[in-house]
Parts: sequence; structure tokens; C-alpha cells
Amino acid sequence: MSHPKCVVLGVTGSIDSHKAADLTSLLVKQGCSVRVVMTADALRFITPLVFKTLSRHPVVTDLYDEAEGWQPTHIRWADEADLLLIAPATANTLAKLALGIADDALSCIALALRPEAKLLLAPAMNGKMWQHPATRAHVATLNGRGAEWSGPDSGILSCGYEGVGRLEPVESIAAKALSLLGIRHKPSDPTPQAGKPPRRSRRRA
Ligand SMILES: Cc1cc2nc3c(=O)[nH]c(=O)nc-3n(C[C@H](O)[C@H](O)[C@H](O)COP(=O)(O)O)c2cc1C
Repeated sequence: MSHPKCVVLGVTGSIDSHKAADLTSLLVKQGCSVRVVMTADALRFITPLVFKTLSRHPVVTDLYDEAEGWQPTHIRWADEADLLLIAPATANTLAKLALGIADDALSCIALALRPEAKLLLAPAMNGKMWQHPATRAHVATLNGRGAEWSGPDSGILSCGYEGVGRLEPVESIAAKALSLLGIRHKPSDPTPQAGKPPRRSRRRA
């Protein structure tokens, strides 16, 4: 049996951080092994417990919190990742990736990633942040290194403005991730019918 593909999911500090929970579930249901790494700012928006439960793996929130083994977790995860997916990706994190800043677990994993591993970025930010020449330059730098993108979409933004900067729907982000990993999308479980309890096995214990 082949190993499940390993997705390291970076969650950054955005009003859309909570959407990464559904993204985790979608990828797990498609057979991916999902490891979640959160920035310090992401912790202001959502608790690691959500990701620990949905991914069924410990969540990395601190570069110095080395629970198991001798090898730093960020190096191990960078070695194991087939895909580093950052969703949502803030303007700050895009800048850090472009400049090679490595001051937390997520940015260290990004720098230590195997060259064969893919990088998929799903930005979410205010439209002016996305259009700012600094962000445009960072996006161009990351494009030059082969980064893949999912979004951003345009529309009404959480900050009250309208423009480009909305996080793509998580289903589209998951589809792009699976396609980069060469995984054929499995149809999801049928939705249980309202009012009907799930079928029980007739066998006695
Ligand atoms: C309520 C709130 C929502 C925010 N949403 C975003 C966002 O969607 N995108 C973004 O780039 N920054 C957003 N920020 C700012 C980031 O949290 C800030 O730049 C932070 O330093 C990002 O750190 P990180 O990239 O390490 O997670 C938001 C801040 C607040 C207070």
C-alpha cells in the first residue's frame, strides 16, 4: 500500500483562519496526512485543538516546543511534506516567504522544504494590502520560484471593503491541492438524510 500524501497546512492570522478547519477535514477525507502548523497570530483567531482533532495529529504552534524525537519538528515536517499549503496566507507571511525570513515554525518549514515538494498559497487580505507594490513584488518573487496559487477571489471582504483579497472557497483550495499531489478526487460521503438516524449494524457485540 502506498503512503498517504503528506500535506503540511500552514494557518496564519486572518479573519478567515477558521476556514482552514474545513480545509483540514476535506483533505483528511481525501486520504491526505495533514499536519497543521499555526503562526502566533493564527492562535488569536482559532484554537489548535480544532486542528488537532480534525487532522488527528499534534499541531505545531511553537518552534521550540519539541515534543518527540531528537530532530527539530520543523525539519522533520519539511522533509516529510509533499505539499506545503498555506491557507489563509496573510500579507505578512507572503512577505516573509519572499524574503526568506525564518522566525517561526511555519517560515522555517517553508525554507527547509524539499525542492521536489510543492508550495500552494491561498491568500486572504484586504484589497489594498493585496494590491500594494510591496505585496505585488513578493508575489512576483514567489512566482519566480514556482509557487502555486489558489485565489484570491474578489467580492465583499470581511474588512468591509470590496475588491480582490477574498480567500478562495475551501473546496477549490482542496481541489487544487489534490491536483498538485496527483490525487483523484473521491466523491465525499453521502449527506445523511434529515430525520433518519445512521444505520446500525445488526450484529450483537
Ligand atoms: C481582525 C483581524 C483580521 C485580520 N485579517 C487579516 C487577513 O485576512 N489578511 C492579512 O494579511 N492580515 C490580516 N490581519 C493582520 C495579521 O493578523 C497581521 O499582519 C499578523 O502579523 C499576521 O501574522 P502571521 O502572518 O504570522 O500570521 C488581521 C488582523 C486582525 C486584527
